[in-house]
Amino acid sequence: MPEFQNIVILTGAGVSAESGLATFRGPDGLWEGHRVEDVCTPEALARDAALVHRFYDERRARLAEVRPNAAHEALARLDAEWRGELLIVTQNVDDLHERAGAGAATDAGDGAGRVLHMHGALQSALCARCGERRPWAESLPTGRICPACAAPALRPDIVFFGEIPYEMDRIERALADVDLFVSIGTSGAVYPAAGFVRTARHHGAHTVELNLDPSAGSFLFHESRMGAASELVPAFVAQLLGG
Ligand code: OAD
Repeated sequence: MPEFQNIVILTGAGVSAESGLATFRGPDGLWEGHRVEDVCTPEALARDAALVHRFYDERRARLAEVRPNAAHEALARLDAEWRGELLIVTQNVDDLHERAGAGAATDAGDGAGRVLHMHGALQSALCARCGERRPWAESLPTGRICPACAAPALRPDIVFFGEIPYEMDRIERALADVDLFVSIGTSGAVYPAAGFVRTARHHGAHTVELNLDPSAGSFLFHESRMGAASELVPAFVAQLLGG
């Protein structure tokens, strides 16, 4: 493998599948029995907030029953050992990258860790009124009061369809300097994440896809390796770290 300095890794639901968390686009096209537009849009929240809150309460509670798998652990190893730049951008709202040990705040820079949740996080609440985000481990009934602005407006901190993903500036900056872009366990169906491979190529990066099946944009990658993340990712990380 050529020498790389700056790596951006994009992860999706396929990384957590072997931990027992359902992917979004299963064979039935449903996410845990629900159509995405019934639980993952601002319209759904306005129409039936109780359903949306209950749905994410169930997903949050489920986190206690699952554990990181070998793919998360390998990425945590990369985070610990990679001397160059690294940003793990995850579309996942679970906390399995962190529980495997990735994403701890570094001494360098602004103290931000190397894991970024662009679609939000189950263990976070967002105030729909003032925009403040806060850690949230419990269930989140509708109408909970925001401690910052006192509005009864706390909602799950999930980026719904039609909303702008988090930290796009930081992602764009990392992609502008990237020389290796790796996409793991994502179907490439949802933008802007699905477009990162084009941006990375535009900036001259080598691009690799690790996935169970070819993603929608598979042809955009220089290299595609098909298989289970728990096998592909540890092997790939070992190759990057030289053993
Ligand atoms: P998808 O469910 O669309 O795709 C999961 C991908 O993982 C598929 O390409 C599978 O082939 C692959 N896969 C499944 N099991 C795997 C395994 N064991 N090893 C490797 N790959 C495996 O999930 P995402 O692409 O993450 O957005 O979905 C993107 C976004 O759509 C989500 O973040 C979510 C959803 O709507 C929001 O919630 C805002």
